[in-house]
Amino acid sequence: MADIQSTSASSPIVVRRRDYRPPDWLVPTIDLDFSLDPARTIVRASLSVTRNGGHDRPLRLDGDELTPIEVKVDGRALGPGEWSIEQGALVIPLPGPAHQVETVVELAPEQNSKLMGLYASGGLLCTQCEAEGFRRITFFPDRPDILSRYSVRLEADQARYPILLSNGDPTEQGELPDGRHWAKWIDPFPKPCYLFALVAGDLACNSESFVTMSGRAVKLGIWVKEADLPRTSHAMQALKDSMAWDERVYGREYDLDVFNIVAVADFNFGAMENKGLNIFNSRYILADAETATDADYDGVEGVVAHEYFHNWSGNRVTCRDWFQLSLKEGFTVFRDQNFSADMGSHAVKRIEDVRVLRAAQFQEDSGPLAHPVRPESYMEISNFYTATIYNKGAELIRMIALMLGPDRFRAATDLYFERHDGEAATCEDFIRAMEEGGRIDLTQFRRWYEQAGTPRVRASLTHDPITQSVELVLEQNTPPTPGQPDKAPLAMPLRAALFDRHSGRSSGETLLMLTEEQQRFTFNGFAVAPVLSINRGFSAPVIVETSRSQADLAFLAAHDDDPFARYEAMQQLMVNALVGRVAGQEVDETAVIAAIRDTVNDPHLDSAFIAEAIRLPSEAYIGDQMVQVDPDDIHAARDALQRRVGKELEPLWRDVHARTRANGFSLSAAAKGARKLRNSALIYLVASGAVDGPTVAFSQFDEADNMTERQSALATLANDRSDEREAALDIFYNRYRDDALTLDKWFQTQAFASHPDTVDLVEELAGHPDFTLANPNRVRSLFGAFAGNQWAFHHRSGKGYRLVADCIIALDKLNPQTAARLVPPLGRWRRFDEERAALMRGELQRILSQPGLSKDVTEQVSKSVE
Ligand code: PHE
Ligand code: ZN
Repeated sequence: MADIQSTSASSPIVVRRRDYRPPDWLVPTIDLDFSLDPARTIVRASLSVTRNGGHDRPLRLDGDELTPIEVKVDGRALGPGEWSIEQGALVIPLPGPAHQVETVVELAPEQNSKLMGLYASGGLLCTQCEAEGFRRITFFPDRPDILSRYSVRLEADQARYPILLSNGDPTEQGELPDGRHWAKWIDPFPKPCYLFALVAGDLACNSESFVTMSGRAVKLGIWVKEADLPRTSHAMQALKDSMAWDERVYGREYDLDVFNIVAVADFNFGAMENKGLNIFNSRYILADAETATDADYDGVEGVVAHEYFHNWSGNRVTCRDWFQLSLKEGFTVFRDQNFSADMGSHAVKRIEDVRVLRAAQFQEDSGPLAHPVRPESYMEISNFYTATIYNKGAELIRMIALMLGPDRFRAATDLYFERHDGEAATCEDFIRAMEEGGRIDLTQFRRWYEQAGTPRVRASLTHDPITQSVELVLEQNTPPTPGQPDKAPLAMPLRAALFDRHSGRSSGETLLMLTEEQQRFTFNGFAVAPVLSINRGFSAPVIVETSRSQADLAFLAAHDDDPFARYEAMQQLMVNALVGRVAGQEVDETAVIAAIRDTVNDPHLDSAFIAEAIRLPSEAYIGDQMVQVDPDDIHAARDALQRRVGKELEPLWRDVHARTRANGFSLSAAAKGARKLRNSALIYLVASGAVDGPTVAFSQFDEADNMTERQSALATLANDRSDEREAALDIFYNRYRDDALTLDKWFQTQAFASHPDTVDLVEELAGHPDFTLANPNRVRSLFGAFAGNQWAFHHRSGKGYRLVADCIIALDKLNPQTAARLVPPLGRWRRFDEERAALMRGELQRILSQPGLSKDVTEQVSKSVE
């Protein structure tokens, strides 16, 4: 820890959950006045402050890179001795119980490369305040348990910034001399400052109306650059669908007269739920057939819903402190996942969500950055917008919902919203509402919020032919994680079924509650040993270990009536074959090939599900199953199995590829499923080694009337050397070089390619004139994708590590938040061989030795290097 102290001596080192104290001063109202200009913006703030409780502590207003130009209390300008700056914060001793405090500061948004606070993006001025960006705009107690009423006046050059937006409802506007104009916005709902937002710019609006369940008309606006207007219709539909869904499923109605969304090109995360004025990374708003894949369309729908749902789970009921982040994020992810499932296929959505959970959260939970859903401490809160807070948090809500059933869960969420409306609440408040509203005891379940690490559940089934019964023994254990050597057993709901291997049917599903370290369950009436299907629907976020044979897995892959379990059986079949190959063991792969063939030919299955089920697990997922990851062997094994499946079923792939060809673009579930399956068929067809593979891929690329088929053909070609590869990359670049979001795909496809030269190519692309560290999407599309490309990133030369470390070091000077998000892949060194581990740690040490390193990167690297 010595290093950490010396690098950031000026700020508090570690914030702890148990140190929470109610605020010394409250701020019931704030009036903000912005005179906007990219080079010089003046912010005047007038705060009514009231002393909270009997104490004599001064008023402390957080600030980050701010200098006060003027400080007034109750109308009187203070002299320099009457206030001080401590660690960036403005400290003012105040005598009475209530005062009016005014400050003036000056900002330079165009210089703000951190994209936190007020910044410039492509001619716009916009803000990002969560988690602690408001203190970069004005002096304020920047903590989510201070709820204030905002009134905001914006003033700017009328020609350059004709549109002026903020939270709440617009009230007045007017023109000024010198070509300037102004607008006033009032938000009637008290809110924490992380939900403040403003936008100024030359924007066009896709405007529609929504009538709420109580009959109020809400004006909806999606604001983008004029040229992007045609790409906003999917987002608009998603918004209306979300509003209707939240009324129907949770009884939650929208509460302002306007709801605005603005798309910006430079954004650190996905989107932000500012009250009445969501600000989005443009990649989650803009979509059309020419530029968006089906996954992009789904991303738009899911993120629009997510941000909209925050209006209740996050804004009306907010968080007391940042340790409660999952209170809003886990719950809101759960809500958006269910919304997307209702809009499309429940089975496929569940498979996708579990894939993300395993890829991102299980990895996090097994490494140096593992932390509980409700963390105990942090150095930099921006580092805690993690898969654990979001995705594992959502799984905890899902388990509660399963244990309660739909009616009791709805009663419990009603109680939660009603009881805490207008408050800053805690995870404990949520759990209590679930207990009281849902009539359940969650005492043991609370451990899920406290313990990090992915639990392992060992399931063994024994059959007794004499008593015709089976005994299922379940054993759980959660491995140690940093700071948590010993774990207590968790309460987990496991959906299970036993299948008769002759009829192919089960006698029905049961919900097993595993609460002990070891528990036995007996089932009667089985003359023959049944096949176990467990953790159906992925009812608990755990790793299940069973010793089911390949034959049993093949049986489930063909007969299980739970789609997730069926998918899971396929995955396990494949994983066994792949791990066997890596270990140099002879594993019978005919069962895998037969299961893939039968799945493709099953007339009862829909195309989207088939495409998911026949996909080989990713190299990273195979690595996760092994004690030590050997990226080269894993790549070779997966590649070999893929070629074999391709070759042995070549006529099938040709047939599927031909018959899934569409006539005209549609976003129907059937059309999306067909495209997904077509792409799987193309991958196998090319893998088969058929001489015409690259030509078929190139024609798909060339003839496609949609980005899904075009990009997946490009991705398939990018894996190998061929003339078609070069031609397709050139065509793609020239077609989309002026469209940033689509050009991102060009970078990403190459960085993610399973090509032996990927690491050199990435180095070259980092020097490409279209590459820039200033845009987070571009950085993620090159370096984020590359760091997720196991085979390429872990090139034994160590060059991949060096490239990512160079990027982190350079980016940290501009945008520490985005830089810090590239650290975790380097922190997984314990899972690799000694040489690679040493190279990875060497890069972490090199990063740590940089002078002036941000708190963000310092925290991630220092936790990863030890
Ligand atoms: N609160 C945002 C969301 O999940 C995420 C976010 C966090 C965006 C921090 C920007 C900055 O919807
Ligand atoms: Zn969120």
